[in-house]
Amino acid sequence: MGQPLTVGIIGVGKISEQYFASFPSLPGLELVAVADIDAARTAEVAAAQGVRALTVDELLADPTIDAIVNLTIPAAHVEVGMRALSAGKHVFAEKPLGLSTEEAAPLLALAETTGLRVGSAPDTVLGTGVQTARDALDAGLIGAPVGAQVHWSAPGHERWHPSPLFYYQPGGGPLFDMGPYYLTSLITLFGPIVRVTGQATRSTRDRVVETGPLAGTAIPVDVDTHIAALIEHASGVTSTLTVSFEVWATRSPLFEVYGTAGTIAVADPNRFSDPSEIATKDEPEFRELPVSAGYADAGRGYGLADMARAIETDRPHRASGELAFHVLEAMEAILVSSDEKRVVEMSSTVERPAPVPLGARPEDW
Ligand SMILES: NC(=O)c1ccc[n+]([C@@H]2O[C@H](COP(=O)([O-])OP(=O)(O)OC[C@H]3O[C@@H](n4cnc5c(N)ncnc54)[C@H](O)[C@@H]3O)[C@@H](O)[C@H]2O)c1
Repeated sequence: MGQPLTVGIIGVGKISEQYFASFPSLPGLELVAVADIDAARTAEVAAAQGVRALTVDELLADPTIDAIVNLTIPAAHVEVGMRALSAGKHVFAEKPLGLSTEEAAPLLALAETTGLRVGSAPDTVLGTGVQTARDALDAGLIGAPVGAQVHWSAPGHERWHPSPLFYYQPGGGPLFDMGPYYLTSLITLFGPIVRVTGQATRSTRDRVVETGPLAGTAIPVDVDTHIAALIEHASGVTSTLTVSFEVWATRSPLFEVYGTAGTIAVADPNRFSDPSEIATKDEPEFRELPVSAGYADAGRGYGLADMARAIETDRPHRASGELAFHVLEAMEAILVSSDEKRVVEMSSTVERPAPVPLGARPEDW
């Protein structure tokens, strides 16, 4: 490997803890600085990580920083990303890519004209869980895929997140928050989406922050909190998706793929290395699939390491801005379908990202 990519993180809230935990094992990357609009938090985190505390402006102006990791809230993703690209830095951002395709399109256009990369979470799909399911599917272990079912639900993130207001603003809700894990996985398994139908609704129940210094604060709910969708892939596979902040208890399966000869229960795509399971017409008891693909022992930031190596070797990176844009358009289209009571055709498309072979390390690729 050549010189490591020097990285600055912008936005050091809750999820940054997981990136800091995996940084020491991420190849080809050197974390050098952090920045946040909260200066006290920046200083505290920088001291704990042994890196420089900068303002956002200072970080973006620093010519020694090659790439930024954007862990701000959804409403700031595109603005911060555009500023970073304009400053000549590659960008890897948390999901969703932006609030809308209209907002996010200029980000990809600027990456194109500057020759810089845009990558996006979720990179959980590069772990052994979803990649093993993909490998089994591609090997024909359940015959030809016909359909898939996704159900993700919870009562709401205010139960555990200390600062959950953004989850109830545009760019949040169960669709824009959890949808990217499942839609990215569905595209990884079956390829691009061509049309969607959706129905989105919300209850009137009062929500308050339940933990941390803001506990008791009322949460304004400006997004739908229960979404059901029908998704048609170009390959002909039909996926159904339910994502909800309205569910106190469920027995629904999380994520299943149905084929002509069996079923794969796909690992939780919000995590990297849970097991995937299989049951077939000949062996109808579910059993764990032996791990057969994916980055082993991966954590948040592997998509960035994959992008760093892709920059070095001049190949496409897997957790790409284009994939995140297609996911963003699908989420937006589900809401348009719900509002306008019609089937919505997708404008964008994307190739299935390259599989991650078992044993691969980002530095090998
Ligand atoms: N919390 C999780 O478990 C989790 C999991 C996966 C992904 N994510 C994603 O990570 C992102 C951040 O989530 P979080 O839970 O860490 O939120 P958070 O509110 O805990 O942290 C966000 C941080 O960004 C800072 N910030 C906001 N706007 C900024 C700006 N314009 N410039 C600089 N800093 C800014 C805030 O001050 C805060 O410190 C979101 O997109 C979320 O969807 C969160």
